[in-house]
Amino acid sequence: MKKLIFATGNQGKLREIREIMGDLGMEILSTKEAGIDLSVEENGTTFRENAVIKASACAAALPSDMDAIVMADDSGLEVDALNKEPGVYSARYMGEDTSYRIKNRNLVERLEGVPVEKRTARFVCAIAAATKDGQVFTTEGTIEGKIGYEERGENGFGYDPIFYLPDMSRTTAELSPEEKNAISHRGNALRAMKEIIRSNLKK
Ligand code: IMP
Repeated sequence: MKKLIFATGNQGKLREIREIMGDLGMEILSTKEAGIDLSVEENGTTFRENAVIKASACAAALPSDMDAIVMADDSGLEVDALNKEPGVYSARYMGEDTSYRIKNRNLVERLEGVPVEKRTARFVCAIAAATKDGQVFTTEGTIEGKIGYEERGENGFGYDPIFYLPDMSRTTAELSPEEKNAISHRGNALRAMKEIIRSNLKK
């Protein structure tokens, strides 16, 4: 069976991928489970570039007898009133080890005085799928929202407590995992990639 390897150590992402991609009929593994141990520097300037850098580097490191597609993602938050910061630096914003309570409070403080209609923001997720013979496909998914005035909700991770969805009157940290996956940037990018794999890469 052809393998679908996802370059992540994040169990939450793997669970979501297994839920969305499960019906492709491929074996889904993390890079670690596939025996690939590679640290790749994310030095691209766009989400798409970073996803391609990671997926291509891991695909090039595949054992020659392994029939597999390697997928990688890169994601983050773009705040329009802050020139799309933190963007590709979302994980590294204020330092990788700084808590999200502090990062979220800092973003809310930086938006002090910004009226609700200018607090627009989005989560973006780019996914790349690469093969050993150099084929690369990419997809991108987004979810639009607004930066709230305070943290709300206990679910999710990262910037979820300040990412408010006006249509649902909740932050993404107030959605169940199923509700979030159904509309999220990563869910959308994964669903688009599933169709690409189905029609182009799955032999
Ligand atoms: P990466 O794609 O794993 O490098 O993560 C990028 C960073 O973007 C995460 O560490 C979070 O700070 C942020 N981020 C990406 N997606 C989400 C989301 O769904 N909710 C909250 N924060 C997110």
